[in-house]
Amino acid sequence: MKIRIILAICIFLTLIQTGCMPSAEQGKNGLDPVIESKIDAILAKMTPEEKVGQMAQLINDNKEDPEEIKNEIRKGRAGSFLNITNIEIRNSLQKTAVEESRLGIPLIFGYDVIHGMRTVFPVPLAEAASWDLDLMEKTAAIAAKEARAYGIDWTFAPMIDIARDPRWGRIVEGAGEDTYLGSMITRAKVRGFQGDDLSDPETIAACLKHYAAYGASQAGREYSTTEVPERVLRDVYLPPFKAGVEEGTATLMSGFNDLNGVPASGNKYLLTDILRDEWGFDGFVVSDWDSIKQLIAHGLAKDKSHAGIIGSTAGVDMEMHTHCYIENLPELAMNGAVSEDVLDTAVRRILRVKFRLGLFDNPYADPKLQDTNILTPEHREVARQAAKESLVLLKNKNNLLPLDKNIKSIALIGPLANNERALKGTWSGMGRDEDVVTIMQGIKNTVPNCTINYAKGCDITGGDDEGFAEAVKAAEKSDVVIMAIGESEDLNGESHSRTKIDLPGRQKELLKEINKTGKPVVIVLFTGRPLTIDWSLENIPAILLAWHPGIEGGNGIADVLFGDYNPAGKITVTFPRSVGQIPIYYNMKNTGRPFDEEDRFTSKYIDSPNTPLLPFGYGLSYTTFDYKNLKIENEKVAIPGTVKISARVTNTGPVAGHEVVQLYIRDLVGSVTRPVKELKGFERIYLEPGETKTVTFDLSTCDLKFYDINMEYNVEPGNFKVWVGPNSVEGLEGSFELL
Ligand code: GLC
Repeated sequence: MKIRIILAICIFLTLIQTGCMPSAEQGKNGLDPVIESKIDAILAKMTPEEKVGQMAQLINDNKEDPEEIKNEIRKGRAGSFLNITNIEIRNSLQKTAVEESRLGIPLIFGYDVIHGMRTVFPVPLAEAASWDLDLMEKTAAIAAKEARAYGIDWTFAPMIDIARDPRWGRIVEGAGEDTYLGSMITRAKVRGFQGDDLSDPETIAACLKHYAAYGASQAGREYSTTEVPERVLRDVYLPPFKAGVEEGTATLMSGFNDLNGVPASGNKYLLTDILRDEWGFDGFVVSDWDSIKQLIAHGLAKDKSHAGIIGSTAGVDMEMHTHCYIENLPELAMNGAVSEDVLDTAVRRILRVKFRLGLFDNPYADPKLQDTNILTPEHREVARQAAKESLVLLKNKNNLLPLDKNIKSIALIGPLANNERALKGTWSGMGRDEDVVTIMQGIKNTVPNCTINYAKGCDITGGDDEGFAEAVKAAEKSDVVIMAIGESEDLNGESHSRTKIDLPGRQKELLKEINKTGKPVVIVLFTGRPLTIDWSLENIPAILLAWHPGIEGGNGIADVLFGDYNPAGKITVTFPRSVGQIPIYYNMKNTGRPFDEEDRFTSKYIDSPNTPLLPFGYGLSYTTFDYKNLKIENEKVAIPGTVKISARVTNTGPVAGHEVVQLYIRDLVGSVTRPVKELKGFERIYLEPGETKTVTFDLSTCDLKFYDINMEYNVEPGNFKVWVGPNSVEGLEGSFELL
């Protein structure tokens, strides 16, 4: 009780001091007394084994006759299944649960609907480059609608791990390196998946993952250790999760990673002290695949029983796939080794989400939805729009792009020119290769009369130079060369960290051979991560970063290549010059010896510039934008207060286009050192040629809070710099002071 009084006083003082509303005590949902009383009634009847059954998520891999698993369901030993995408099997298992188990509690069915279910959108790191929150919400809403048509109630998404190391394969699954942008995208995704009413038959439960700081995997090596100081954890890695909780996410997933000596899936500080006591999260936490049993390998648990105790008491409510809970907790609860309160708390959370999803009232999925809700023309149109908006123009020397639609011949060269699978990217749900529009098909759709001289040239990885000669011939007889190169979908994603992040295989050698022909070359770069493309940037006139753009990628790319769409994407991860620079990100600290060209004893390398190959927020357009008239109203601001910052942006080029106007600040002096820049706002605008718009940001002093020397979340008086510009290294500079 005393703790709660102290907490209330702290919140009250925070309110007075900063005028910033503290995070909602309860998630957006709030507790429904009717649901809570129903849960009470069910809990009162449950045996320990039935309680732990709700905490078990099993698989059955769409087995046609899952009789064995049905017996488990009848005994109340299953609460959820994952990876069942056959709606008949799903409904059959559900029927067993609802009609043949003692209490008739419905199952909840989960699946990785990461960037689309059947209509596959660009991979998350690509979508993030659009900076278009409405679009990202819309693609999540479509994914939810399609997922429900497959009988899926719950997605293991959005993945919101801040990642600053492109060696880590899973950087592709998130929003990139920035906490503010990552938090905004998290909110958009939760809104998209869950809509306003979780019981709506076209919405699904979201799952923020991987809680927390999995993206800090040491050396970018998959499943590696994460050592993250508390302040960095709080300032960098946790805010997107807090944003998602405030947005009302139904669930979270605990990570694999050893976080400061306590693996995330056994970390009470993360799972209870912060998530429940500080943030008031009222949904449930599912473990990652086997991450409870992995507590043994971590050296935190001595056996499965011990792992079950640690995971459940730390705050992981449901165990994915392994059976530490179901095999041990009933007996442990009965013999008092684990308090039955632990089970009751977990089950309450799980049942709460099942009630909110409407599973008690409507436990069965409607197969008819598959006739109307999957891969519709409207969904394809949104996929094409998402592909276009996620493309980033990295270079366009002498305006080689856009190409003239009357071009006579194009050499389309590279192992990704005709590769459906790669365009879907990793975690592509129920997407099918035959649904994909490749870049070859997209070009044919746009310029049907153009002769396309295709040559694969080489394999994606390994291989040899056998195909080079044919590719050179194709280039020599064409007006322009388009190189479709980069990573395939299985060179990034889970368990695909890389120590070298160059173009894989012999692709760079192929590119150099083609460049020797002297033909104008355009690279269309497919990848799930930043690549060290320094040679390409130096020697190739035009580069379009396509990521893995989804099933409409080929059309979206052609729209940009031939000028039907003016690219406006901006990278949300820094591209390093070399692996040696990693970790490198825009919002680093200044150090006591910031780099100085004139002084050798300053922070630098002797064999590389400090600057990245491409900075956070970078992306070009077919037009140009000019920034003028930075205005900062009330340059001296009391706390709490608002700084109004504006700038005029003009389209000074020949074609209309979007521009992502970015707002950065720097807190010059703090009770702890602060980053050299921090993104605090952005606005995606559209300007006709010659048009000017004034973009205004109302920067609240709340937005300037950080964990100070006393680890309190505060904003401190002092001087700030501010920039408004097109990326993290350019822009109009100003300043203001907090009093
Ligand atoms: C995987 C991933 C996680 C995914 C889960 C279920 O190992 O770590 O992101 O949601 O298992 O497929």
